[in-house]
Amino acid sequence: MKVTIVGAGAVGASCAEYIAIKNFASEVVLLDIKEGYAEGKAMDLMQTASLNGFDTKITGITNDYSKTENSDVCVITSGIPRKPGMTREELIGINAGIVKTVSSNLIKYSPNTIMIVVSNPMDTMTYLVHKSTSLPKHKIIGMGGALDSARFKYRLAEALGAPISDVDGMVLGGHSDTGMIPLTRFATRNGVPVSQFLSEDRLNTVKEDTKVGGATLTKLLGTSAWYAPGAAVSSMVQAIACDQKKMFPCSVMLEGEYGLKDICLGVPVILGKNGIESIVAIDLNQAEKDNMITSAEAVKNVNDLLEL
Ligand code: LAC
Repeated sequence: MKVTIVGAGAVGASCAEYIAIKNFASEVVLLDIKEGYAEGKAMDLMQTASLNGFDTKITGITNDYSKTENSDVCVITSGIPRKPGMTREELIGINAGIVKTVSSNLIKYSPNTIMIVVSNPMDTMTYLVHKSTSLPKHKIIGMGGALDSARFKYRLAEALGAPISDVDGMVLGGHSDTGMIPLTRFATRNGVPVSQFLSEDRLNTVKEDTKVGGATLTKLLGTSAWYAPGAAVSSMVQAIACDQKKMFPCSVMLEGEYGLKDICLGVPVILGKNGIESIVAIDLNQAEKDNMITSAEAVKNVNDLLEL
């Protein structure tokens, strides 16, 4: 399994690190436009190999896409991150051009790759890859829900005073401060609905804290987060590499599922060796369905800003 990660910034490098530590990929190529930067990150990471016990070979490349040839999975993290007070949507102008160029360069050398899009505004960038490349839809996957669900579980565990391993839950919808839909009704502690332990008010706080999870970190760090985004991508790549058939909420092209069409939005999917093996339909109640529609409308408004 060869994985290429474009963008050797904090998210790209932490993604490479987690993939290597999990030891399922033979090769990770880290590519960046900044001269020597990816080479430096790759060398630093390789010098952790004997300490962390992995055999994955990490290579750093400055802008030479021929070195990414025959990648099984490509991850796009490039683009500018948000600054405190900025929304993900405000990044569209710069990032759309970058994502378009990067995805076409990658496909030139890896026409059969599975592509994971991380750059923001992520749902719109995933849509852009659909519209501007000829990759089949099951091979274009936006990373948002896996991260947002991890943040949801963190907030649930905090509210419950429980270890995170006791907690399960998913976030659907758009990867934005207002578009996320943490499914509190389906969240459980060891199979028991969390509503048995937490009041509606407390659950609403968990929901709101989850939705601004990225913004909270951006305010604290001065730039957007990287550990959890990197870990979320690495779990998705592992599910594909090891054909795990695991369920993650991902931003995928919808063609009628959840009553939505011609839009990439976070819904539960099964990830395996073919990328998106299937989209999972779950029974949402009216309020949850309404939230999906509102979330989709907001993403559509951002998609309309694309010059396709
Ligand atoms: C975040 C970025 C990756 O939510 O969108 O941290």
